[in-house]
Amino acid sequence: MWYNKTSESRVCHSLYYKTGGKTSQNAALRKKIRRVNKMRIKALTLKNFRNYKEETFSFSAGLNVLYGRNAQGKTNCAEAVFYLCTGTSPRAKKDRQMIRAGEECARIAALAESRFGEVRIEAEIRETGREIRVNGEKIARNADLLGNLRGVFFSPDELRLVQGGPEERRRFLNVSLSQLSKSYYTALIRYNKILGQRNALLKERDVSMILETLPVWDAQLCAFAAELVRRREEYVARLAPLAAEKHAYLTDGAEKLEIAAERSVHGEDVAAALARELEANYEKDIRLGFTTAGPHRDDLKIAINGTEARVYGSQGQARTAALSFKLAEIGIFREIAGEPPVLILDDVMSELDLARRRKLLTEIEDVQTVLTCTHTEKVLFGKTVNKIRIVNGAIRR
Ligand SMILES: Nc1ncnc2c1ncn2[C@@H]1O[C@H](COP(=O)(O)OP(=O)(O)OP(=O)(O)O)[C@@H](O)[C@H]1O
Ligand SMILES: [Mg+2]
Repeated sequence: MWYNKTSESRVCHSLYYKTGGKTSQNAALRKKIRRVNKMRIKALTLKNFRNYKEETFSFSAGLNVLYGRNAQGKTNCAEAVFYLCTGTSPRAKKDRQMIRAGEECARIAALAESRFGEVRIEAEIRETGREIRVNGEKIARNADLLGNLRGVFFSPDELRLVQGGPEERRRFLNVSLSQLSKSYYTALIRYNKILGQRNALLKERDVSMILETLPVWDAQLCAFAAELVRRREEYVARLAPLAAEKHAYLTDGAEKLEIAAERSVHGEDVAAALARELEANYEKDIRLGFTTAGPHRDDLKIAINGTEARVYGSQGQARTAALSFKLAEIGIFREIAGEPPVLILDDVMSELDLARRRKLLTEIEDVQTVLTCTHTEKVLFGKTVNKIRIVNGAIRR
């Protein structure tokens, strides 16, 4: 297996024996462990980031609610948190869009904590590029950022996951798996690089040169492809039952969610199967100028009560299914990484009915959450939370 099973369950298991199986004491210890084993962001500073000049947020380990009127900077703050988790924005296509208008450099800095201790993450974004530091040390590759702070991001845009094209579902798998496994991320980067080179070659005019060079690229491409397919299938095998369980819970058992991986090549030996497929497609690929088979064409099939959600699902069903995906993702992080991630819920409460809001809040009780909304009273049911009011790119204290 490619993940470490160093999780809470093992710690609890050994404690059970140490305490002679005394259940009440054991339960207290379990609770204590759960409190410690939680990834969280303690403080976040934004400088010249979007509409923030300079602001520092203190987050509690539970629910943090950023509230305020429209266009004040709530989503901007949520975006910054996710950027430090993954090195990519959940919405900006270009990093430079995050630099405050008229400024040269945006800075995001956070103090976070995981079960391995405290970690400081800083990002400096300029027109010309960015620099990320982890505990003061500049990182050379984005891969070195991943895993320090893991995040799950959910916003109304995430409906794309169900209603959008296959690239949306691949993006979900890629972002999630990359946060769990550096080697997945590295395989993905290498695969995409070779794929880009192969596609550039396919656009050349000299066909005999193309035919001579293709096998060289294909051998490398197939090895990385097999790695991606294998990892994604392991992930989907965990995701499908968890998401089905969350979906049944959210819909009181009225809806059955089914998720399955849809591959573009078949066969036990993915590398060999893809090699055959690539060769069979030489003519087609040269004619079209791009590679028509491989994990960059794979998809996930999502069905609700037996029918394809993308085509037949209602808006509400798609929203619930997307939420089930994200809750399942939290569960996978919990299992594989041994602690839940930081959850970022941007503007999603207003789109859920009361019963679902309540259920969602119950589900995330032990997960640090950064939630944005315009009206706190509508989402919180009187829960004690860390409320932060945002007005025009600043905290209103
Ligand atoms: N690079 C930038 N420089 C300066 N201001 C920016 C930049 N990018 C976005 N903004 C401003 O940030 C504001 C939007 O912030 P944000 O999206 O966080 O709003 P919000 O509080 O989430 O609002 P809503 O409730 O509508 O979702 C807008 O006023 C926008 O002009
Ligand atoms: Mg917003």
